[in-house]
Amino acid sequence: MRIYLIGYMGTGKSSMGKKLAARMDFSFIDLDRRIENEQKKTITQLFIEKGEDDFRFLERLALHQTFEIENAIIATGGGAPIFFDNMEMMNAKGLCIYLRANTDVLISRLLPNQHLRPLIASLNQAELQDFIEGQLEKRIPFYEKAQLHVESKDLTPAILHKEVVSWLQNQNNS
Ligand code: S3P
Repeated sequence: MRIYLIGYMGTGKSSMGKKLAARMDFSFIDLDRRIENEQKKTITQLFIEKGEDDFRFLERLALHQTFEIENAIIATGGGAPIFFDNMEMMNAKGLCIYLRANTDVLISRLLPNQHLRPLIASLNQAELQDFIEGQLEKRIPFYEKAQLHVESKDLTPAILHKEVVSWLQNQNNS
């Protein structure tokens, strides 16, 4: 079984994913870290040196590699579900969980580490708000294709684990 955590930057996909994997005794894969390790460059360097289009190809490739791995929690980058047929593929190959968050929560989570994310690194707070709102409008329809939607505010690994277990039980009963 594979579980894909999807959602906007700052929704806690990586930190939740790591903890959920430990609880379920699954392996944990962070798609961005995989790309960085394989390319020996940071995401920021890849955006600057290769451009976003090339990054999206690398992201797709890294995603496809996860289809061979069993019992894994995969934290995806916030843009992964939006490009190519990534969302359909993730839904076909595993359980997709959308970690939801509103703009205010996202701003408070993104501001401290803004420099690590090339898409938002140079924005001031007002620009960041506009950027997030504009992107969410486009991205939410993709995120909402996930089979399971979970509010990321106050989410704990225990709650997330419970959501997964009850989703699996519902699947077995239907
Ligand atoms: C991106 C999100 C980032 C990373 C890249 C692009 C996006 O991942 O893949 O900076 O398009 O939303 P996180 O969601 O893990 O920050």
